[in-house]
Amino acid sequence: MSHDAVSVIRTKRDGGELSDGQIDWVVDAFTRGIVADEQMSALAMAILWRGMTRRETARWTAAMIGSGSRMDFTDLPRPTVDKHSTGGVGDKITLPLAPLVAACGAAVPQLSGRGLGHTGGTLDKLESIPGWRADVTVPRMREMLADPAIGAVICAAGADLAPADKRLYALRDVTGTVESIPLIASSIMSKKIAEGTAALVLDVKVGSGAFLKTVEGARELATAMVELGRDAGVDTVALLTAMDTPLGRTAGNALEVAESVEVLAGGGPADVVELTLTLAREMVAQAGLHIDPADVLADGRAMDHWRAMIQAQGGDPDAALPVAKHTEVVRAESTGVLTGLDAMGVGIAAWRLGAGRARQGEQVQAGAGIEMHAKPGDAVVTGQPLLTLHTDTPDAFGHAAAALADAVTIESASDGKPGELVLGRIG
Ligand code: URA
Repeated sequence: MSHDAVSVIRTKRDGGELSDGQIDWVVDAFTRGIVADEQMSALAMAILWRGMTRRETARWTAAMIGSGSRMDFTDLPRPTVDKHSTGGVGDKITLPLAPLVAACGAAVPQLSGRGLGHTGGTLDKLESIPGWRADVTVPRMREMLADPAIGAVICAAGADLAPADKRLYALRDVTGTVESIPLIASSIMSKKIAEGTAALVLDVKVGSGAFLKTVEGARELATAMVELGRDAGVDTVALLTAMDTPLGRTAGNALEVAESVEVLAGGGPADVVELTLTLAREMVAQAGLHIDPADVLADGRAMDHWRAMIQAQGGDPDAALPVAKHTEVVRAESTGVLTGLDAMGVGIAAWRLGAGRARQGEQVQAGAGIEMHAKPGDAVVTGQPLLTLHTDTPDAFGHAAAALADAVTIESASDGKPGELVLGRIG
């Protein structure tokens, strides 16, 4: 049966279900430039309003995977397992996690992205390490994964990995159509399934700094992704984790690398260590390994794998990290307990300081970002430093301060403890 873009758009606009044939046709025709950007944008908006059934979402995901090639690591001598975070502020977990899980005996093929808007990107962070390169060929990836001294690779996805998603995501980003559960689920899972990992742990963020603001929304997204993974033969579990306040004490590129190295050296903020170990335990269990990641972190094996992984991609793990040219301190305006440090406010401020980009392809500043000297639950006194803002472009201080205006809450007393980090588990 022949199809055309307008009838596919009309079907979804009017609340109908797309047939397998319509989905296969529209994704393929979009990839080949036959369906125009404005038609795909209209379809994305119709999907955002009307939703997609489980069958439609699975078929859409398969069509996105089929738009490119699928990697295969089944011949590696060790089990493959990966994690994906839906994106947060200060979320540097991939940096210590990938070498830690590799040091436990798994292979971690971690294809990562660059940041857009207020959420940071793993590749932007690692690119602050002098010499480090995000582009790795598939044969070199395979060598790194098979090497027992490395075992992990964090790199950019090649152009042939779900190319339909790359084009569609760029359209969604500029047409207000990112926040659709079936579109987010199929976008993330098409890339992860095409990447060829046997197992996957999803870190689905919930809260002010996340795409999904409520536990119910995050649970729906997590369930959709777990189902897609399992239907495609990828052993998938999801954790729902809090993103009301930034993870750790830094948001920025080099600042987050430095904090990740602290974690690998046995220190670092408690929340970053807790989430790294929680996710590592899930991944190690999925890989069928019987080892406690806490021991591997404590005895320095994870650090050895980090160093080998950075060197294998041209980076110098001993080089000094870039530092921003200018800093400004934000001080506490009253005495009491810090009860709120809003993730969205801190993320937007770090972005405006130069840590993030407003449009794809822009340069980020390696040294820009925010150091947090207090975390929710800490007692603070008037005038003490709460945040240090870092940037190469001091004009940005005013814009960052505006984003932070309502981000800090200090109350005279607080009876509540800071909330739990892990809010649920699916799978
Ligand atoms: N990350 C993705 O890769 N895709 C989405 O749609 C949202 C977040």
